[in-house]
Amino acid sequence: MSQGRLIVACDFGTTTFRALVTEVFPNGELEIVGHSVQEAEGFVDGDFVDLAAGSRCIARTIRAVEQDSDIYVTGFTYNISGSHLRSVLATAQVPIGPGPRPIREADIDEVRSRARSMAIPFDHKILTVTPVVYAVDRVKGVVDPQGRVGSQLEMQAHLITGSRSVLHNIENAIETAKYKPLGEEVDILATAEALLTAEDREQGVMLVDIGGLTTNWAVYNRGAIVANGMVPLGGEHLSSDLAHGLRIPQSAAEEVKLKRGVVLRDLVEEVSLDVLFDQEQPEETPGLVAAVLEPRVEEIFTYVKNDFGDLRELAGLGAGVVLTGGGSRCRGTRQLCEEVFDLPVTRRHLPARLKGADRLPSGQWATVLGLSLWAAGDWTEGDEGEPRGGGGLLGKLRGMFKRRPAESLSAEA
Ligand SMILES: Nc1ncnc2c1ncn2[C@@H]1O[C@H](COP(=O)(O)OP(=O)(O)OP(=O)(O)O)[C@@H](O)[C@H]1O
Ligand SMILES: [Mg+2]
Repeated sequence: MSQGRLIVACDFGTTTFRALVTEVFPNGELEIVGHSVQEAEGFVDGDFVDLAAGSRCIARTIRAVEQDSDIYVTGFTYNISGSHLRSVLATAQVPIGPGPRPIREADIDEVRSRARSMAIPFDHKILTVTPVVYAVDRVKGVVDPQGRVGSQLEMQAHLITGSRSVLHNIENAIETAKYKPLGEEVDILATAEALLTAEDREQGVMLVDIGGLTTNWAVYNRGAIVANGMVPLGGEHLSSDLAHGLRIPQSAAEEVKLKRGVVLRDLVEEVSLDVLFDQEQPEETPGLVAAVLEPRVEEIFTYVKNDFGDLRELAGLGAGVVLTGGGSRCRGTRQLCEEVFDLPVTRRHLPARLKGADRLPSGQWATVLGLSLWAAGDWTEGDEGEPRGGGGLLGKLRGMFKRRPAESLSAEA
């Protein structure tokens, strides 16, 4: 019989919705109980632009995971993505007494709370506040200020905010599908939760998730997130390029990409690009596929590099780049990423600590797994510390779903 707690999470991707039921055990291990995948509908740029289609798609995704896991679901944790998200590095300050004295925990709490009440646009909500670095009496780079003597404490924090109206729309779509929104986490932070180790974050790492219509990225250094962003290009643009280049329908181009996609010309026999212009129906060869795809993938990585912008910090990322997402699966993507960033690149799709991963079909499960780990972490950590997106998830999750008796499932089947 079950020993752990059940967690339901759903990844609203630009091309695919994925739901997962996991069981979290007291030792923090997760086991996959059930999964489901649906093509996304009514969902554009992180927002449910067509409420009816979107909520039907949510209902289909969750019903499928109920069937697969043998569980009634009443609510779930989900991700937030899209161009409405804003990230800023903000600075908050507190004076320490009339004269210098050792900094106490209460001072650190105060500076964090000031960062949280930072002025942001009225139509936005703060989703996360992560302390990046402290300064005591303008001496920068203090990792833990507690106990240091000083008369002023300063904290630089990384803030992510999201549009209140989009956040409300997402909740509305979930409720229209007759489920309870149990907590939200920023998409790339959930993916990071699943794929990055504490060592990666300490040494410095850039996580790049090439999805369907977007590429999300985040940079961590000295243990904390320092920047994140989104580029409006992804795997679907590769298929469109192939459709244009080879003059074939989009569905055929998608198949070429999935089965024979290669994005680095050095890996295949080189062809002259003239055939793309001279021939009405150019013959599909590995050389031609690579010639069509390489500039687009190079553009995605260059865009991400420029979006981050701090080339000096980039060069110092000891753990290099971690590449993930369905759009990163074509042959040669890792090598091309290394060329653009001039850093070591590893591809990761699933976290190490996971039971039952063999039950998952191939695909981008990292984000929804990260959401599950995040929700599980909220339990084990007792919901303390910095707000992690949903805030207060612990209480909300309790008792939100229960095992469906086996006989009731067979009776309905
Ligand atoms: N084996 C593969 N080879 C090449 N491309 C692939 C492969 N598998 C999936 N893709 C592509 O990956 C993309 C979808 O990736 P993913 O599932 O990570 O996106 P998403 O989560 O829906 O989108 P986003 O993260 O942008 O919200 C599609 O363009 C799909 O064609
Ligand atoms: Mg995704």
